[in-house]
Amino acid sequence: MSDNKLRFKNGVFTVLQVSDPQDLQYVRRTMLWMLNKAYDRVRPDLILLTGDNTLGNHFRDALPVVSRLTVNTKEKEFRAMQKALAYVLEPIAGRGIPFAIIYGNHDDMNEITKEKQAEIYRDYPGCVGLDNPDQTVDVDTYNIPVFSEDGSRVAYNLWMLDSAWTDHAEGRGRCEIKPETTAWYDKTCKALAAENGGSPVPALLFQHVPLRETLRLVEPCGELPGAIKEKGHSYRLIYGVKGEMGEFPSVCDTDAGLFDAIKANGDVKAVVFGHDHLNCFEGNLDGIDFIQTPGASFRCYGSPARGVRVFRLYEDGRYETEHLRYTDLCGKNPVSALRYLWDADDVWKQKAAVLGALALGAAAGAAAYIMKKQ
Ligand SMILES: [Fe+2]
Repeated sequence: MSDNKLRFKNGVFTVLQVSDPQDLQYVRRTMLWMLNKAYDRVRPDLILLTGDNTLGNHFRDALPVVSRLTVNTKEKEFRAMQKALAYVLEPIAGRGIPFAIIYGNHDDMNEITKEKQAEIYRDYPGCVGLDNPDQTVDVDTYNIPVFSEDGSRVAYNLWMLDSAWTDHAEGRGRCEIKPETTAWYDKTCKALAAENGGSPVPALLFQHVPLRETLRLVEPCGELPGAIKEKGHSYRLIYGVKGEMGEFPSVCDTDAGLFDAIKANGDVKAVVFGHDHLNCFEGNLDGIDFIQTPGASFRCYGSPARGVRVFRLYEDGRYETEHLRYTDLCGKNPVSALRYLWDADDVWKQKAAVLGALALGAAAGAAAYIMKKQ
C-alpha cells in the first residue's frame, strides 16, 4: 500500500466537488470558512475543483487603483494568481487530502497559460492528474483512476475534461468541448474497457461548462413563481428533475459529439458541471445523470445554495450524491448569517441597509449625547 494509487476503502470512495470558488488575491474569508467546515465534516478521499478556480480576469483590478499600479506585469499577475490559489489550496494540502482540478472560462482570462497555471497546482503535494501525456488535448483533460481496495483493478474512473478557453487573438471566450477532447475520451475509454476484460469502467465525468443537452432539462412555462426569464420567455425545470434553477443554463457552444460518445461507450453514470452559480439540480437524460453544482464563491454572484457537492462512489459501480449548502455546513445562527451578509456578493442591498441602520443609530446616539451635554 505504499504506492500513491487512490483506492476504495471498505467499498466506498468519497469525492467532494468545489465548483467556481473564483476569488482573488484578497479572498472573501466566509467561503474559506464554509469550505473548511465541508472538509472536516465530509473527510473526502479526493477534492475536485471544477473550474473558475480563480477570478482570473481581475487580478489587475482587484483593488481600485492599487492593483493597477502594483499588478502591472505578467510576472506580478502570476504571483497574484499564486496567492489567490494558496487561499484555496493550502487548507486542502494542510489536511493531506488529494485534489485535482479542471479550468473554467475565468481561469484563462489572463496572460498566464493553462500550462503555466498547472505549475502552481503541481507545487502542492496532494495534486493528482494534470498528467496527460497526450499533447493533443488541454493540460486539464485527463482521467483519474480509482482502484479497488486491493489495488488490482480500476474500480471507478473520473473524467476531467477541459470545456473553456479564451481566444486571445480574437479577444473572446469560448465554451466548448474540442473535437480532440472527445476523441481522447473515446479512445481512452475503450482502452480502459479492454483492460477491464471488455466491460466499461464505471465513471463520473466532470467538465466546467454544461453540455448542450442540459437544455433538454428545461421547458417553457407561464408566468409562474420562480420561473427563469430568458430572451422574453419563462422557463422551469422539467418534471423529474430534482433541485432548483436560478438562471437559464449557460451551455457549451459545441460538444463535438461527446454526449453521443458517452452513451455509446456506456461507462459514464453521471456528467457533472459547474459554471452556472445559481443552479443546483439532478436530472437524467437517456440514462445518464446530469448534475449541476452551484458556485462556492462569495466574491461573485451566487445564492444561498453556495456550498459543495459530495459523491459517494461504491466499488460495485453505484454512486450517490448530495449537495451541502452554506447553512448545512455553517449552521443557521447569527454568526453564520452575519458572515454571509458581510461577504456574499448577492446581498449588497441588505448589507447597505444594515450598515445604513447602524450609521443612523450611531448618529442618533451621538446627537443624544451632545444634547445631554449641553
Ligand atoms: Fe464559469
